Amino acid sequence: SEDELDARIRAAKATLGDRVVVLGHFYQREEVVRHADYVGDSFQLANAAASRPEAEAIVFCGVHFMAETADLLSGADQAVILPNLAAGCSMADMADIDQVEECWEQLADVYGDLEAVDADGLVPVVPVTYMNSSAAIKGFVGRHGGIVCTSSNARTVLEWAFARGRRVLFFPDQHLGRNTAKAMGVPVEEMPMWNPRRPLGGSTEEQLEEARVILWHGFCSVHRRFTVDQIAAARAEHPGVRVIVHPECPMAVVDAADEAGSTDYIRKAIAAATEPTVFAVGTEVNLVQRLAAEHPQHTIFCLDPVVCPCSTMYRIHPGYLAWVLEGLVDGQVHNRITVPADVADPARVALERMLAAKP
Ligand code: 13P
Ligand code: SF4
Repeated sequence: SEDELDARIRAAKATLGDRVVVLGHFYQREEVVRHADYVGDSFQLANAAASRPEAEAIVFCGVHFMAETADLLSGADQAVILPNLAAGCSMADMADIDQVEECWEQLADVYGDLEAVDADGLVPVVPVTYMNSSAAIKGFVGRHGGIVCTSSNARTVLEWAFARGRRVLFFPDQHLGRNTAKAMGVPVEEMPMWNPRRPLGGSTEEQLEEARVILWHGFCSVHRRFTVDQIAAARAEHPGVRVIVHPECPMAVVDAADEAGSTDYIRKAIAAATEPTVFAVGTEVNLVQRLAAEHPQHTIFCLDPVVCPCSTMYRIHPGYLAWVLEGLVDGQVHNRITVPADVADPARVALERMLAAKP
């Protein structure tokens, strides 16, 4: 039962003490989050993974790319554990390394040597990958002068990239790329998009010449469900409602909302409201429900009335958490995530550029 699992997790954690650190993403269900030593967005959890070098094991209650990142940023002898190996991210899966290599070659056909610096000190294209991508993709970016971003620092990272190149190739999330570029004043109409079935989206030579951002075709299946109609319905029903959405939502949704930001931005915006307020939130439902429970003075609901969990985050069932923790008590490491050195070295370069990039 739920209570039994809860007790087993508590007992194993008590036995392990400081030997283990449990990280939980904001989108994890309550029965998992309550056992986490750190709860945060993907950027905060990457930092948390690097902050406990004395722990033997880091149990990452999140998705696969987050556990890979934790492995890159933690010590070589620390084991990073993903309680259920089937917890992936459909967006991260939309950019595979072979496709990215192919795209890069096609861009070289259009723009020439992609790493040749021109008279202004700029290269033609800087690759920027969203954290929500495999370690192999982060390695690609590290090898080609690029950088990683998260939804909480995408603008700072794009500024870093524009200081080094004429254009950015942004992947895998077209929406975060488009929304961030728009917020920076970069024209987004007819932005070229790379899709393996339609390379460069049929863009004209002129569009390719003028492009400042080239988008990948990926998206988050949770956030693309939010619509402008849902925002209109929330405003009709709750005059004065504050609509906050995640930047993985389509541009029309971000434009119709009052604010857009990362999961941590959403959390802080709600925590900072001093007057009782109605919030309609466009992000994963487990976070929205937790925020509603934490702030009973406000009315907080998910923009999508049908509810939209992230089905892969949800694969971290407390039963798997109990299993990996009890394994550690017995000296067994289950579900270790290890990034091979040939990928890890350049991927770490790309991550460290992000950690050093300043607004
Ligand atoms: P954050 O970077 O805001 O934690 O988002 C991660 C994620 O997977 C959003 O879908
Ligand atoms: Fe991936 Fe979307 Fe789930 Fe985030 S919410 S882990 S981007 S599928």
